[in-house]
Amino acid sequence: MSRVSIQNITKLYPEGGGVKDFSVDIADGEFFAFLGHSGCGKTTTLRVIAGLETPDSGTVHFDDNDVTTLPPEQRNAAMVFQNYALFPHMNIFDNVAFGLKARKMPKNEIAPRVAEALELVKLDNLEKRRVTELSGGQQQRVALARAIAVHPDILLLDEPLSNLDAELRYSTRTQLAELQQRLGTTAIYVTHDQEEALTLAHRIAVMKDGVCHQIGTPDEILNAPATEFVEQFMARQKTILDSLKE
Ligand SMILES: Nc1ncnc2c1ncn2[C@@H]1O[C@H](COP(=O)(O)OP(=O)(O)OP(=O)(O)O)[C@@H](O)[C@H]1O
Ligand SMILES: [Mg+2]
Repeated sequence: MSRVSIQNITKLYPEGGGVKDFSVDIADGEFFAFLGHSGCGKTTTLRVIAGLETPDSGTVHFDDNDVTTLPPEQRNAAMVFQNYALFPHMNIFDNVAFGLKARKMPKNEIAPRVAEALELVKLDNLEKRRVTELSGGQQQRVALARAIAVHPDILLLDEPLSNLDAELRYSTRTQLAELQQRLGTTAIYVTHDQEEALTLAHRIAVMKDGVCHQIGTPDEILNAPATEFVEQFMARQKTILDSLKE
């Protein structure tokens, strides 16, 4: 469990794109979402929080510790990457156990942790299977299990369900929310899917072209949009949800 405080983060790439002057305080145990179109700077911001990018300016604090220039392995955060980043030469068990072995956890404690994580993502019968023998959706679930297994203080999730079919996406989403609550992990979740952000997150940051337009609860984002962009971006979801109320 950790608070995450981002103050005036700017990270701009020479070719254009990135994130501009972004600030947010994320509470201990909060489920927070970055929501916006492709290319709006969601992954960039997550990579700054993970320590995979150093911002041009601004600071990142986990609780009271300034982690802005700390390498990723010195932050108790785990990231699920948009492109999975699994170890192709290892089987599923070893992929999921990787972070636990790196933390020198005793062998007899590793197996139940791996089993718990694989059960969550419904891959508990495939421990010995190689990563190269899995579908994209299965690989995505291994990546999710690998991050969850270490019980990180902060879970960084970059579109972790985008390759799952609708049914699995829905059930994994529900289980992920339950697990996050049970472990009390602070979760930062990147998505371009309005419905996903609205159903999972306590608060959402709506982004466009590297700029944060609004930070608010699902209710605030839907019913008190701060800018015209937020209103337009949420219009379809608002219509659907309003029609359900009638
Ligand atoms: N390493 C990089 N070098 C140069 N430009 C980059 C780099 N990473 C991202 N960008 C650019 O910065 C912008 C924001 O990229 P980012 O990956 O943060 O977007 P995103 O919101 O995660 O999009 P998507 O939903 O497609 O994953 C894009 O215009 C992208 O081309
Ligand atoms: Mg991205």
